[in-house]
Amino acid sequence: MAVVIGIPVCADAAERRTPIVPDVVKKLRAAGAEVVVEKGATAGAFLDETSLGEVSWVDSTDDVLAVADVLWVIGPPSDEVLAKVRPGTVLMGLLAPYSSADRLALMNERQITAFAMELLPRISRAQSMDILSSQGSASGYQTVLIAATRAPKFFPMLTYAAGTIRPSRVLVIGAGVAGLQAIATAKRLGAIVDAYDVRPETKEQIESLGAKFVDTGVSAAGSGGYARELTEEEKAQQAEKLAKAVAACDVLITTAGVPGKKAPVIITEAMVAGMKPGAVVVDMLAENGGNVAGTVAGKEVRVGPAHIVGPTNLPSRMPVHTSEMYSKNLLNFIAPMLNEGLLNMDWEDEVIAGACLTHAGEVKHPMVKQVLGL
Ligand code: NAI
Repeated sequence: MAVVIGIPVCADAAERRTPIVPDVVKKLRAAGAEVVVEKGATAGAFLDETSLGEVSWVDSTDDVLAVADVLWVIGPPSDEVLAKVRPGTVLMGLLAPYSSADRLALMNERQITAFAMELLPRISRAQSMDILSSQGSASGYQTVLIAATRAPKFFPMLTYAAGTIRPSRVLVIGAGVAGLQAIATAKRLGAIVDAYDVRPETKEQIESLGAKFVDTGVSAAGSGGYARELTEEEKAQQAEKLAKAVAACDVLITTAGVPGKKAPVIITEAMVAGMKPGAVVVDMLAENGGNVAGTVAGKEVRVGPAHIVGPTNLPSRMPVHTSEMYSKNLLNFIAPMLNEGLLNMDWEDEVIAGACLTHAGEVKHPMVKQVLGL
């Protein structure tokens, strides 16, 4: 019996992405797998019975659960759905692993083998599977487009009959995948870009995109390519140097995350108060508490001189391409496990073991256990 990959409708009704696209259907079938999709699960990305390819369509989530060996999802399924998952089912996707110990308990009760793609080890071999990176790239791009439509100024230098308009100055905080894409997008729109990150290796990456590195003298490389949390003294030093750059910019984009933790508040109330009148802030970490004091997730607020945007689920705003990226990432993750249509997990493989959230009734990931106190 060939392994069946099931795609239920997403728990979040506002989500427009889908974890399956036509190219990936073809590749899964070529690897001997079958795909079962709940009607409506791909509609947000404009894919339907005529365009998705050779899949079986079913009417309900229950119908998917009844036949699927592997579930591909965007975001964790609801508790109601998890409670009905057949024991031994494999779950793959972004699963918000740090958000709920109760959900993990439910997964363990159902004997679900869950791979949370947020936990994927950041090694070269796993780059093509990295959903955080592909979706982060889309988020970074979106932050700049949002800022450009809210800004009361042009981004590029503009010459017109009566003179020249100066370009906008954009400051990007956090130069990971999303931040680097924000820098590149702001440059493409013609802005002057400054950027800052605590990891020292980002200086070269920022400069290679034609932006200027803001040096605060704070260096905080953590493990696995991520930043670590800053000490109180480091935070103070960073704040002092950053305040100047924040006061000088027309647009501020923040993308600074620390895995498993609430977003660090890097831009204080005083810094916001010191911004130029009409300055625009887009805080990509809004859903995770925000990098900016005053950000409200899902809202646009006026705080002193600044217009602060706290967008949520940015990748869902461009579902055609983000679904394609997400689906190909999942395909690259599952491909080494597919052998003549059967699923074989090599637990010695650091990518498979490292991305595993729950298996055989246990939470497997050490950092998730630590963060949730398990
Ligand atoms: P992220 O989303 O966790 O964080 C975004 C950025 O914010 C990071 O660059 C981080 O250094 C920075 N940051 C955190 N706290 C900060 C603070 N207080 N002040 C200023 N900046 C702060 O990171 P992301 O973008 O997902 O990845 C980070 C890096 O990991 C990448 O740039 C890359 O070098 C590496 N990576 C490696 C992969 C692989 O080898 N498979 C895949 C993806 C990323």
